[in-house]
Amino acid sequence: MADQKLRETPLLDELKKGPWPSFVNDMKKMAERKPMINDLLGQLELSYKEKKGHWKHGGLVGVMGYGGGVIGRYSDAAEQFPACAHFHTIRVNQPSGWFYTSAALRELCDIWDRHGSGMTNMHGSTGDCVFLGTTTDELEPIFAELTAKDWDLGGSGSDVRTPSCCNGMARCEYACYDTMDACYNFTMEYQDELHRPAFPYKWKFKFSGCPNDCVASIARSDMSVIGTWRDDIRIDQAAVQEYADSGMEIRSDVIRKCPTSCMSYDGKEITIDNKNCTRCMHCINVMPKALRPGLDKGATLLIGAKAPIIEGALLATVLVPFIKMDKEDDYQEFKDLIERIWDFWDDHGVNRERIGECIERVGLGNFLEAIEADPLPEHVKHPRTNPYIFYDEYFEEVDDAEAEKA
Ligand code: HEM
Ligand code: HEM
Ligand code: SF4
Ligand code: SF4
Repeated sequence: MADQKLRETPLLDELKKGPWPSFVNDMKKMAERKPMINDLLGQLELSYKEKKGHWKHGGLVGVMGYGGGVIGRYSDAAEQFPACAHFHTIRVNQPSGWFYTSAALRELCDIWDRHGSGMTNMHGSTGDCVFLGTTTDELEPIFAELTAKDWDLGGSGSDVRTPSCCNGMARCEYACYDTMDACYNFTMEYQDELHRPAFPYKWKFKFSGCPNDCVASIARSDMSVIGTWRDDIRIDQAAVQEYADSGMEIRSDVIRKCPTSCMSYDGKEITIDNKNCTRCMHCINVMPKALRPGLDKGATLLIGAKAPIIEGALLATVLVPFIKMDKEDDYQEFKDLIERIWDFWDDHGVNRERIGECIERVGLGNFLEAIEADPLPEHVKHPRTNPYIFYDEYFEEVDDAEAEKA
């Protein structure tokens, strides 16, 4: 690419000065052989100078047969930076748990180097392997090459977004169900919903093997599936003693940090009032040799998280306190619930309204009734704050029922 001059980027060059790795260095290296990256640097420099973005969001681009997976991006400074006039993003469905062989990574990178900027984001917060920057005419060739090698695009727009999971049982003794299997299973089950956007807005599944990943899951997905157990934490008292002997301050570091104060330690043994344990994982993380999750394992389903767009951010709330993640039964109980929720959302959701907002709008009670779920104490977010609620009709119902009995 000797014929095109490298862009001058005095402001961006400031970002090379720190002791940390700089994306500017990487991009400059690529700019030597990719005109698209060279112009991208030019446009970014302009944005730093003017304190103004130059990307036009959106535009309908995609591949035949799919309604998602490609996010259109155009420059509004294309006259100055023609090589990045189009800079579309492609989402490639990542393997469950983000496990790749080096051969698979080379395959992806080679395809992308031939047809796009060569710049990737491993991984986007959606989970996907994100290919950053290509032109409209390259989309079909990339899609053809990816699918020939059994890769597929991920979700974008109003569809099921690429499900993602922690690496669960592949690596981690805490996993309460097989997150990688569940993630793969749901990805395959909902291929149609993933590639053909037909919802009011996006729908994200995140599979966490235990509550350690709760933030990632509760803050980032419409439906978070968090591994848990419903029997007792397993305690190895001899191992407790070993921790004590090796100098661990069990009272201050474990017992007093239990958020529900349900643990005690008499200097020899730990006792847990499991009914009051919220499965926060703190004690287990601190003394993994002595404490382990119970044996009756499954998951808690939470619903409704979203980032602020039209309304403010929401964290997910509990919908099903415990569900067996039954591989043998193909997760049928879970899938039946999903169908009922999607039916409700189809009927009542407003365009670009996430399920969490929809539930807030119609009220949790109405939502639960529509999906045929019983109200549970776990659904209560916090004690009521409104004194102007009257229960007369409920009292009357009780009176009527008792009158009938008499
Ligand atoms: C003084 C030198 C090193 C230090 C302080 C160090 C430290 C660490 C730490 C803290 C982890 C994370 C462990 C965890 O949280 O699971 C780790 C993981 C790892 N290290 Fe090192 N490391 C060192 C040298 C090396 C060398 C020389 C190699 C390879 C030749 C290596 C290969 C790895 C690998 C493959 C993992 C990932 C293991 C896993 O995923 O469970 N490390 N290292
Ligand atoms: C300036 C005077 C008063 C203030 C600031 C006040 C404030 C409050 C507040 C903040 C609550 C809690 C509401 C909730 O979270 O559910 C409450 C509850 C209540 N107040 Fe008052 N109050 C006042 C006077 C009174 C009086 C004069 C009475 C009775 C004659 C009364 C009877 C009650 C009752 C029965 C409740 C419980 C209602 C329920 O939760 O079912 N309050 N009040
Ligand atoms: S979320 Fe839990 S099960 Fe999954 S990798 Fe993290 S600690 Fe392990
Ligand atoms: S998991 Fe959390 S709530 Fe349960 S006993 Fe341990 S520290 Fe307490």
